[in-house]
Amino acid sequence: MSQAISTYRARIDPDGTSFEVSANESVLDAALRQGVALNYGCRHGNCSSCKYFLQEGDVDHGGASIYSLSEAQREEGYALLCCARPASDLVIEGQGGSDARAAPMLLPRDVVAEVESIAQLTSALWRLVLTLSEPLPFYPGQFVELTPPWAALRRSYSIASSPSRPFALEFIIKRVPEGAFSSQLPVLAIGERFAVRGPFGTSYLRAGAEPVLLCATGSGLSPILSILAAAAERNDQRPFIFHYGARTNEDLPCQHELAELQELMGSRLSYVPSLTRGSADWNGQRGRVTHALQRALGDARPFDAYLCGAPAMCDAVGTLLEAKGIRADHLFYDKFHPAV
Ligand SMILES: Cc1cc2nc3c(=O)[nH]c(=O)nc-3n(C[C@H](O)[C@H](O)[C@H](O)COP(=O)(O)OP(=O)(O)OC[C@H]3O[C@@H](n4cnc5c(N)ncnc54)[C@H](O)[C@@H]3O)c2cc1C
Ligand code: FES
Repeated sequence: MSQAISTYRARIDPDGTSFEVSANESVLDAALRQGVALNYGCRHGNCSSCKYFLQEGDVDHGGASIYSLSEAQREEGYALLCCARPASDLVIEGQGGSDARAAPMLLPRDVVAEVESIAQLTSALWRLVLTLSEPLPFYPGQFVELTPPWAALRRSYSIASSPSRPFALEFIIKRVPEGAFSSQLPVLAIGERFAVRGPFGTSYLRAGAEPVLLCATGSGLSPILSILAAAAERNDQRPFIFHYGARTNEDLPCQHELAELQELMGSRLSYVPSLTRGSADWNGQRGRVTHALQRALGDARPFDAYLCGAPAMCDAVGTLLEAKGIRADHLFYDKFHPAV
């Protein structure tokens, strides 16, 4: 005989928004399912963005990493809402501050997809294109979760293509040799079926008049291509400055797409690649992307900034931009925390 699953009520204090959470789902999943906006990032207990204080109620902390939520914080009453499952009704203290430029939330949905193409771009990066059974609306800069046919695992990937093509999603993925998902990229077959859930993420391109600073290394290029494609299609009049860090000349992916975007956007797009091991004839920036930005940028106050890719790089650039005066609500992170 199957046992009924308990359902609880969660309320956010002080704004009073309330929603249902069943005992077998995370508080964050329940909120997103019902269109309730909460802060979050990785959705796997690794980034701490979804750390909230529970004024009342008990949760099971599930897979929250001890680095993101210490024992002491658990005892004080904090929880990572992407991992926490309710054991009672909850009162959650809001994190304060609201984003006046947040777009209406797009409710995550489940869609089936097939591999349309897979291609190697550099020694480490691959481009995966999936055709979807139905369109998946998203904002440029958002990500989806993919479940491959060979294992019941979920991995997050930022979408590289424009929202104007919601039937065919492109991704730039780094192959991690021992990775449960990404190690299989070279042997993917056309037509293989994936489950797609999304969209997720709050680091999507905001409307506004501010110049836009984009910064990435490696596969962090993925959401930035989507942002730039959308900006080009919309004839967005803001200046976009894109700093990209790689090791060698051969590690620079998608140069053809970036040249096309440059053509479309003209002087509104400034692309600044920086190489740590550029060839002798490389006449662009040298060194880490953080150093290139440090040299190039004086005052960060006027900017919106989107930092994408390795968490350590995002943190270093974020600290630099804060020191240069960027406003906190104009700084957006898409940190690629590993799921394990
Ligand atoms: C919001 C979000 C968006 C993301 N978007 C992208 C994206 O657009 N493109 C992309 O390539 N990835 C992206 N990622 C990372 C992605 O979700 C996976 O974590 C990554 O592809 C590794 O998964 P895997 O199953 O291959 O490796 P796993 O089986 O999860 O990991 C195997 C081992 O490799 C280590 N590992 C994982 N990732 C790396 C890495 N990058 N470098 C070195 N070691 C690693 C793990 O710690 C583990 O020890 C994103 C992550 C998040 C949270
Ligand atoms: S720890 Fe919950 S979203 Fe990253």
